[in-house]
Amino acid sequence: MDGKKILLTGPTSTVGLPVALDLAARNEVWGIARFGNAAAKARLEAAGVHCVTVDLETSDFAEIPDDFDYVVNFAIARGGDADWDRDLAANGESVGLLMARCQGAKAFLHCSSTAVYQPAGAHLVAETDALGDNHRVMFATYSIAKIASEVVARTAARQFGIPTTIARLNVPYGDTGGWPWFHMKMMEAGIPIPIHADGPNLFNPIHFDDIVRTVPKLLEVATVPATIVNWAGAQSSIEEWCGLIGELIGVEPQLDVSDHALGSVTTDNTRMHELIGPAEIDWRTGITRMVEADRN
Ligand SMILES: NC(=O)c1ccc[n+]([C@@H]2O[C@H](COP(=O)([O-])OP(=O)(O)OC[C@H]3O[C@@H](n4cnc5c(N)ncnc54)[C@H](OP(=O)(O)O)[C@@H]3O)[C@@H](O)[C@H]2O)c1
Repeated sequence: MDGKKILLTGPTSTVGLPVALDLAARNEVWGIARFGNAAAKARLEAAGVHCVTVDLETSDFAEIPDDFDYVVNFAIARGGDADWDRDLAANGESVGLLMARCQGAKAFLHCSSTAVYQPAGAHLVAETDALGDNHRVMFATYSIAKIASEVVARTAARQFGIPTTIARLNVPYGDTGGWPWFHMKMMEAGIPIPIHADGPNLFNPIHFDDIVRTVPKLLEVATVPATIVNWAGAQSSIEEWCGLIGELIGVEPQLDVSDHALGSVTTDNTRMHELIGPAEIDWRTGITRMVEADRN
């Protein structure tokens, strides 16, 4: 992707920042957020990203241009305080208003989450499987707000004829963040890691480099009605990646096993492989790089 005008929501997010920085090297990139993180905003501006302060909960997007080639929606509002009005407005209503504003776009990528699936243990969840509320134990509004925002994106794709991809991300991680990165920090601090008693706790971590590489491909496969696809790497487990982190940093992981932790969410990646190909970075390689980057 080269020479395009691209809007990113959530450009300061853990997942969105590396994508914004990569796209800005070859494109005109605009980013919208409230920009509570001044250091991330400064990094974006240094990379040439046009940063516009927008609150997704209340904006009608009149403050941004309406002639973007592509829109990538990474923003997420998920406070721990279960403010349903705020989170449905910021995550759901905003998608419809943003797509109305950017209805001339060639494609819209909505970053969703495998948090939208009904808990299914070790079953590999495919895009057609049952939806549910698997993240309630961590973030009260998250799963339902993500499902709601998918529905708004599906509706607006049809209403405005915007080719759209809804990509359900599993566990993003890399040198600067993600769940395994938090587990590394917890282990360093001697904090036990909550895991579900129904182990192994299976997920499909996907490295930031694979996310950055596949964003243009996900935009290419956008359709009306929306393409819905899992966005994930090969299967691993919290037990496995914490074991590897523990070996690399010389700390035995302490696991806090209970029925109150988030349980397995592991994906069938067949549709992803058909549409955009598989993730390329093996989780052992990615986790090793993450630990080494933290040491340097
Ligand atoms: N992290 C994961 O493990 C994970 C897993 C699966 C899927 N995902 C998906 O990946 C995407 C990025 O997640 P993340 O964890 O990287 O996000 P994050 O680090 O929590 O960042 C959230 C982003 O949204 C912006 N934002 C929040 N509320 C806003 C508001 N009211 N108005 C404007 N901007 C707002 C934030 O900027 P300001 O606060 O400055 O406004 C920030 O840029 C989300 O769609 C998420 O559902 C993440």
